[in-house]
Amino acid sequence: MSNERPFTMVTGASSGLGLELAKLFAQDGYDIAISGSSDRIFEAAETIKSYGVEAYPHQADASTYEGVEAFWEFVKSKERELDAAVLNVGVSIGGSFLENDLEEELKLIDINIAGTVHMAKRVVQDMVPNKKGDILIVSSVSATLPTPYETVYGPSKAFGFMFAESLREELRDTGVNVTAMLPGATNTDFHHNAGMDSTYFGDERNKNDKELVAQQGYEALKNKLDHVVCGDEATKKAAEDNRTTPEEVKAAEHAKKAKPQ
Ligand SMILES: NC(=O)c1ccc[n+]([C@@H]2O[C@H](COP(=O)([O-])OP(=O)(O)OC[C@H]3O[C@@H](n4cnc5c(N)ncnc54)[C@H](OP(=O)(O)O)[C@@H]3O)[C@@H](O)[C@H]2O)c1
Repeated sequence: MSNERPFTMVTGASSGLGLELAKLFAQDGYDIAISGSSDRIFEAAETIKSYGVEAYPHQADASTYEGVEAFWEFVKSKERELDAAVLNVGVSIGGSFLENDLEEELKLIDINIAGTVHMAKRVVQDMVPNKKGDILIVSSVSATLPTPYETVYGPSKAFGFMFAESLREELRDTGVNVTAMLPGATNTDFHHNAGMDSTYFGDERNKNDKELVAQQGYEALKNKLDHVVCGDEATKKAAEDNRTTPEEVKAAEHAKKAKPQ
């Protein structure tokens, strides 16, 4: 019976946007494989199951080749055709590049860039022979500006944005759709985990609602848009303005918001 439902996977779904996106798929009757590095992923699975669908939790570290591959093997072990995939897992690191730990920064690159390419390879090679599938790659409004005091993060998200747009064009006639999701600052654990509590982004009042952000990303995927900026009107206007604002001006503005106080 459950095999008649569509099947999707969401990386980084223990909490935050990944979990919100998973809930939206669940509301639409998808069974879902989810991944996270902590055992919170099992709790997330119970939340998703409360929508009356199957949730398959998998605990693995997305910063390692083995961790990414293990989640893919887990997805394949369900022997289901994959209808959609959300490549969501991502982290930031706040603070000064001069002082931050190189290992942590390289780990960020492993999760946000290498891990995204790795999982996209598996998903694309799986979906194209079926001539259908929807892939959502979670980038950020940070892809549209320099991000001092998160100096490695923004460029990693710029990679995700242009990677998604590139892949979309390559796959144009295959039946597989790729959409890039660009949230503005959103009220998840993200900035706390990045050590940014003492910044503008540490203040919940300056952030978008995660349910609204996830809903906009989900709808963009369903409508097969190339990309979508997610958040309130001010977030959308800021992203639009970023197209023409000089990089130096945007960098100075972001530094004010991200610099630890
Ligand atoms: N929140 C924002 O302001 C914002 C804005 C723009 C874009 N984004 C993007 O949105 C995506 C989701 O972020 P979020 O805001 O939802 O952050 P979050 O609340 O911190 O969630 C991150 C998720 O990734 C998982 N995760 C973290 N490190 C992992 C690892 N090494 N291996 C496997 N899973 C790992 C976490 O689960 P575990 O704890 O179980 O590992 C969690 O489910 C990211 O790509 C981020 O760049 C966020």
